[in-house]
Amino acid sequence: MSQSETQDANPPIPTPGAGIDWWTMLTDPAFLASPHAELKRIRELGPVHRDGAFGVYFVLGHGEFRQMAMAPEMGRDTRLWSNGWNTPENKQRDPVSFDLFSEFQRQMVNANPPDHRRMRDVYEKALRPAQMAQLQPMIEAECRRLLDELPVDSPVDFMTAFANHLPLRVSRNLFEISPDMDPQMAQWNAALVKIGDIMMSPDQKQEALAALREYKAFLRDHLEARRGNPGEGLIALALAALDDGTMDEEETLNNLLGLVTGNENTVTVLGNGLLTLLRHPAELARLRADPDLVKSAIEEVLRYEPSINFILRVAIKDYQLGDVLIPAGALAIGLVAAINRDPARFDEPEVFDIARQPNAQFIFGGGPHVCIGASLARLEAQVGLSAMLERFPRIELAGEPVWWADRTNQRGLQSLPVRLGR
Ligand code: HEM
Repeated sequence: MSQSETQDANPPIPTPGAGIDWWTMLTDPAFLASPHAELKRIRELGPVHRDGAFGVYFVLGHGEFRQMAMAPEMGRDTRLWSNGWNTPENKQRDPVSFDLFSEFQRQMVNANPPDHRRMRDVYEKALRPAQMAQLQPMIEAECRRLLDELPVDSPVDFMTAFANHLPLRVSRNLFEISPDMDPQMAQWNAALVKIGDIMMSPDQKQEALAALREYKAFLRDHLEARRGNPGEGLIALALAALDDGTMDEEETLNNLLGLVTGNENTVTVLGNGLLTLLRHPAELARLRADPDLVKSAIEEVLRYEPSINFILRVAIKDYQLGDVLIPAGALAIGLVAAINRDPARFDEPEVFDIARQPNAQFIFGGGPHVCIGASLARLEAQVGLSAMLERFPRIELAGEPVWWADRTNQRGLQSLPVRLGR
């Protein structure tokens, strides 16, 4: 993996499936397009595995992931990763990665207690479901604008014409950023999406570092411009936390960046959702007949075709997970597509059922770091897909969908050709 090529100091432990070549598998385009059969095979060997090459632990079981996500021994501060970007050897070997990860580091998603709670408290109440529900008219209006532009009865790429735009527009409205910034934000987001990817080339690291610096400079100016007139939204919360010393400037900017770009994950939910429905016509018909099923339909899309692959933890102390001891400093990765189809938790996990209840899918992680934007993401996906189905009584695939082949963390479509009819 890109962040670490140092020698693995931990002796191999006898986990089942120890011969798996994880890094070849996780970067294989065929796996990225459809990981389920391979993950099922590995999960049947055992819920937790240790990679012999880098000493990374992979968690495929639902119960095991739940336990790990809640465990105080397992944090998210990657500076503690004994094989990671923050070691003196890796700093010397790969200074660009070091700069990239250290300049991205100080925000809630990468923080352990007590810093994590201090930062999360600034935004948590403002992002609850009741607050997000007030955004519904704005999200619907953005959907209408995008849908008005879609051609009828000729092929169109759903990703580039709709899905790529909606979350970005919602995010810039939420953070009171001018629509003029859309193309620039799209460019920055495309560079930043590679952070955390295990296939980052040297050029992509440079691009991500440049985008990170430019985005943060823009957000600094954006905050300063609002200082005399902060309003009552998330910008006001950021300014108040900066001014009263709850967060320093670096934390304020990194957390804002995390919130503004977090929405990019919703792009893939829209694409994965539409494709999965098109591939399950009976479920699509069921949703059209009963649009109130959209909430549970989105939960099922998030379970069945999760839009991210990895959820990370770094052991703060030695941690016993079932039969496996995860030593302090080790990286552990929850593989969401495996966790979300674990038969120990889900009846008939390979069946796509838009009314599935209960549905304890784990796309938003769990424990103290559970996604703070989950309510917004859910609402946006529900509104976006409902708007598409309502506007177009006929939606057909118009070609082969293309999955991103060079994104190992985010799992989604690069293009989804469809033909829309009224
Ligand atoms: C479908 C869309 C989304 C997915 C799949 C997703 C997924 C995740 C995951 C897996 C985590 C880490 C959870 C853990 O470690 O246990 C996370 C955390 C986070 N997400 Fe999201 N997210 C989405 C949308 C959003 C949105 C819309 C925002 C911004 C409003 C956002 C902002 C954040 C932030 C700031 C964190 C860090 C929370 C913390 O560490 O306390 N995400 N997200």
